[in-house]
Amino acid sequence: MSQSLLNHSLEPAPRLRVEGISKRFGSTRALREAALTLRSGEVHVLLGENGAGKSTLAKIIAGIYPADAGNIVVDGQAIHPHSVKLARKLGIATVFQELSLAPHLSVLDNLFLGCEEGQHPFAWLHRSWEAQQCRSLLTELELDLPLDLPVSALTIAQKQMLEIAKALLRQPQILIMDEPTSTLTEREKSRLFTRLQTLKQQGVAILYVTHHLQEVLEVGTRVSAMMDGAVNATVDVTSTLTETQLLEMLTGRNLSLAIARPPQPTLPPLFTIEDLQTAAGCAGVNLEVRPGEIVGIYGVMGCGRESLGRAIVGLTRPTQGKMTLLGHPYLPLHPKAARKRGISYLAMDRKEAGILAERPIRENLNLSNLSHFNRWGMLLTQQERLKTLESLDRLQVRYASTEDAMTRLSGGNQQKVLFGRAIAHLPRLLVLEDPTAGIDMGAKLELYRQMQTLAAQGLSFLLLSSDLFETILLCNRVYVMYDGKIVDELWEPTLEDEERILAGILGRRSAVP
Ligand SMILES: Nc1ncnc2c1ncn2[C@@H]1O[C@H](COP(=O)(O)OP(=O)(O)O)[C@@H](O)[C@H]1O
Ligand SMILES: [Mg+2]
Repeated sequence: MSQSLLNHSLEPAPRLRVEGISKRFGSTRALREAALTLRSGEVHVLLGENGAGKSTLAKIIAGIYPADAGNIVVDGQAIHPHSVKLARKLGIATVFQELSLAPHLSVLDNLFLGCEEGQHPFAWLHRSWEAQQCRSLLTELELDLPLDLPVSALTIAQKQMLEIAKALLRQPQILIMDEPTSTLTEREKSRLFTRLQTLKQQGVAILYVTHHLQEVLEVGTRVSAMMDGAVNATVDVTSTLTETQLLEMLTGRNLSLAIARPPQPTLPPLFTIEDLQTAAGCAGVNLEVRPGEIVGIYGVMGCGRESLGRAIVGLTRPTQGKMTLLGHPYLPLHPKAARKRGISYLAMDRKEAGILAERPIRENLNLSNLSHFNRWGMLLTQQERLKTLESLDRLQVRYASTEDAMTRLSGGNQQKVLFGRAIAHLPRLLVLEDPTAGIDMGAKLELYRQMQTLAAQGLSFLLLSSDLFETILLCNRVYVMYDGKIVDELWEPTLEDEERILAGILGRRSAVP
């Protein structure tokens, strides 16, 4: 009790406080009594999956939407009624996901767009001095553009950086950034993060909205996890904070329970590879997969992993070596042949995975199964419909109608459908190439759960992921690959094995005989 009082008295007064914020859009409850504080000199990361309510909360703070209930307090003063104009006056600047640039105007004009006469930060200055200020900010952000260039000529990343520059030029006291890195490359991202460090030191209070776990550790001072319209928890970002803890905060679950690995199967191997070599980089690979086992192969691009996956699913012919499935020789000439034997494949690139972008969700889901349905004509059209609804439900796909084009779905939901297609004909082994690349966290967790459930039912997985965290979290066994060879093998790996695995993929371990 006295401890908590003490902590309370030592805590700096927040620059901004929101409490009990609720907001409905029709029947959607976007926010349910959301609350958080924002201090001077911190980057407060607001982390949550798509649809959690992050953008809505950010827009309410910016005065764009009115809240249905709750308070916004800036420097101890309750703000009511709030407005965009008042937010600006209070020194709140925002960078939103939807860019606010006017395409036909120049870079310079866009930087000052929305500044009212008289409030223009450099209104009393000479235009050339003004241009110089812009130029130095743009240079610092490595956005070296002619100031008279029309914004329509910029790349999407340059537009995003310009949007950020526009907010910074206002010298905000409170800066709100909603997923600012979604269109940025690594290089631009690091420029932005450097700049955020400076702003932090200058005492700016920064709210940084993201759905990327890694960004929390990269820029955060504190992090709040948001789910279903509420802020679940807030913690300090320390060097011991792990991605697992963040996922646990987000889901409100103990992950080791939520995505518990099934017990190590003791059955004889389902699938084995001996001395496999390919023209494109496998230099003698040996491995085995048991029934119900999730096996990861981890390595850097070009280590031979893709080539290995492709040989297994019949996309390339090995030049040497032996594959065995259920004790019988296995050498597929085509993915269809692999599928017939019970080995299915989900390619990394959704286009390559055979997505029919403009065709209905139903067709995309049932693509590899169509002949099965069509044989019976009308009767089974009804069955197809029912099966489709059932699958989409089990896969937790968020969709409006099964007849909507695939492009109507988010990336994560598209991937769930493709995963559904890959398991539709009940394979024995599913080869997954980066199954969660670029999809949101909710969809990621859902795919993990699907894999766990199916593994418990006996389906085996070969996971070729670039995500070390998910590889460790999911796999019963991880093979580490370097230069065409397996250089290490770990059973039931934990996050403590990270260093060992990284040493392996960088060639700092010698090949396993
Ligand atoms: N303008 C709007 N009209 C109707 N529904 C909305 C609107 N904005 C957001 N929503 C809904 O509110 C919920 C929260 O959305 P949002 O704040 O955008 O989440 P996030 O930014 O965390 O992805 C979602 O279910 C979304 O569909
Ligand atoms: Mg959003």
